[in-house]
Amino acid sequence: MNGAVEQCALDGDMKALKAHHDKHPTLMEGGQYILEGDEDAKSTTIIFSMSESEEVGALANALKSFQSNNVNLKHIQSRPSRREAKYEFMVECDHSTGNLNAAMEGLKENASYFQVISRNHEEKDAVPWFPRKIADLDRFANQILSYGSELDCDHPGFTDPVYRTRRKYFADIAYNYKHNQKIPYVEYTDEETTTWGTVFRNLTQQYKTHACREHINVFPLLIENCGYREDNIPQLQDVSDFLKDCTGFTLRPVAGLLSSRDFLAGLAFRVFHSTQYIRHSSKPLYTPEPDICHELLGHAPLFADRAFAQFSQEIGLASLGAPDEFIEKLATCYWFTVEFGMCRQNGELKAYGAGLLSSFGELEYCLSDKPEKRSFDPAKTCLQKYPITEYQPVYYVSESFEDAKQKMIQFAATIPRPFSVRYNPYTQSVEILDSKPQIQTLVREINCHMQVLTDALVKLS
Ligand SMILES: [Fe+2]
Repeated sequence: MNGAVEQCALDGDMKALKAHHDKHPTLMEGGQYILEGDEDAKSTTIIFSMSESEEVGALANALKSFQSNNVNLKHIQSRPSRREAKYEFMVECDHSTGNLNAAMEGLKENASYFQVISRNHEEKDAVPWFPRKIADLDRFANQILSYGSELDCDHPGFTDPVYRTRRKYFADIAYNYKHNQKIPYVEYTDEETTTWGTVFRNLTQQYKTHACREHINVFPLLIENCGYREDNIPQLQDVSDFLKDCTGFTLRPVAGLLSSRDFLAGLAFRVFHSTQYIRHSSKPLYTPEPDICHELLGHAPLFADRAFAQFSQEIGLASLGAPDEFIEKLATCYWFTVEFGMCRQNGELKAYGAGLLSSFGELEYCLSDKPEKRSFDPAKTCLQKYPITEYQPVYYVSESFEDAKQKMIQFAATIPRPFSVRYNPYTQSVEILDSKPQIQTLVREINCHMQVLTDALVKLS
């Protein structure tokens, strides 16, 4: 296959990131699923604590404000505040009913803490909604920008009814998937396995000389533990289990293209939204969107690396509650690292981006002298425009994943948010850090960890 026919393995999750800004989601023709989540779009969450919270009935008094303004409440939760020595309340309300603004004004008057979290970005002072616990990712399932069986007219499988039915089958698995479930095992057809075999054979020949050290190191383990073979398409659940053992990353099937905000939010929980279908058999070395070859050969090996996993999670954490323009900047950083990133190892350029490691043609091209190479610097990289249907004219080179991670953390600090976030791996939830007492508690915890490490060092010396 020559380079022109082959084209790059264009990335659909990235296409989604771009599509997010280019087109407004609409109900898919003939599809039974609503695209942009109307449910979440209608709800606004308010977290508050009352000035006189010691008083019995503080919540009842607060809720009167909603009642008198005819705002329906969907969920009410009270919990000990992490900010102050009192209770705080989390109320999810349907902002399509009553006068929410008036209710909030009434509430604010007596609140010592007040924060609005909303999917409706136009709401003044609201932080865009984001998942707080890993199970919240279930909410993304019905917020896809296009559904699996809906193919563009230039898609290789557009006129193939069997392929389209198959795509619907995979999309339904993902649509019905819930956190903590096993990803269903799929019996791939001989035709699908042959397509995988062609891609596998071609790419694995290149890895030795073109892939980064981390990818090369983990590949034999994937062969050994997850059934990576030319004549076998590995199962997502097996790969997810393997990654969980390595870095805590897990795979989650996705029914279509997610918005950039939702896709990046998954990374904050070390969850990678993955396709399960394979490209059309008529063009085994080309795909206009991510498929299982791209996910399992390009992405999965790198998520087994601790430093890379941390780097990816940093991008995800930075995206939570970030304003729209920063989501686009983070999505661009993601594009030039996780998808098309290159690194320098022992003085040589190597590829670590999944878009490169899953494209026979672009993997060859990126190491040639044709494209420009620049050093990865999030503040500059985030502004770089990029094509999504052809090879990249510019690649960004990182010195190491550790270095890239530090740069991302510094960049994340420039994102205007009224709080910082931290992932709590014990509860698999995101903690909002916006008060001294909770930060003091964390410092004490870290001191404890430091003590353990110091003791370990002493024993080694
Ligand atoms: Fe990708």
